[in-house]
Amino acid sequence: MLSKVVIPVAGLGTRVLPASKAVPKEMLTVVDKPVIQHVVEEAIAAGFTEIILVTRSGKQAIEDHFDHHYELEAELARKGKTALLESIRDILPAGVEVISVRQPKALGLGHAVLCAAPIVGNEDFAVMLPDMLIDNAGQQRDMSSMAAAWKTSGLGQIMVEGVPEDQVQRYGIVDCAGVAVSPGESADIRGMVEKPDVASAPSNLAIVGRYILPARIMSLLKDTQPGAGDEIQLTDALQTLLSESGLQATPWQVNCSTAATKLDCYKPM
Ligand code: G1P
Repeated sequence: MLSKVVIPVAGLGTRVLPASKAVPKEMLTVVDKPVIQHVVEEAIAAGFTEIILVTRSGKQAIEDHFDHHYELEAELARKGKTALLESIRDILPAGVEVISVRQPKALGLGHAVLCAAPIVGNEDFAVMLPDMLIDNAGQQRDMSSMAAAWKTSGLGQIMVEGVPEDQVQRYGIVDCAGVAVSPGESADIRGMVEKPDVASAPSNLAIVGRYILPARIMSLLKDTQPGAGDEIQLTDALQTLLSESGLQATPWQVNCSTAATKLDCYKPM
């Protein structure tokens, strides 16, 4: 059973300034709700029940969003505003809990995931990066399909998407040995590299921020040295994991598309 998902929310949001100066970037609204709520809903729809936020000082709004707001609830109830009341009271269905841990220093994504190790324990778990929104459009190509692939293969799953060549240096890039991977299926990964130059990128298949990983990754992260951007990179620990056991890529899309949206992709790096 997969029940735990780690969602790192400790970033400073520098790529979306000034919007994220006083408001955590995860709380910025997309259509009618904050980004983080879209991501948590994707996790819940895929069956996850323990949502582990890796957060930092100054980002309490994210935890508050998933907590009760008794005064507001009482006021909406008193006024008979049932739909609004439900929209704030029922964000988390019964049986789903949000737990938070802190990342004391901004040492990179790999370090953020490692901060959740005491809660993850010995279980396989998922990681979802909230700067990517997956427009599933009912096609079962989100965390649900990855969880199914994990169940069948027993291997870690990484969601990928084809991106234009000039964008590969913004992402972790996987090498699937040129195998044509179709959406909804999984292909073995041969290697991966974090933010490569266009010239050295093994493909244009970018990691889009959805992972299902074995607990073993935590031990590997402990020994991972800073890499690209002088940060402890999850991709580097995954490369080590690859040499021990397999990992598979689950494509969302193999053609360049806008369906999985990197929220900061319009920003210069
Ligand atoms: C992180 C990961 C990278 C992945 C990207 C997706 O990078 O390290 O492998 O492709 O998220 O958004 P970041 O955007 O945090 O620099």
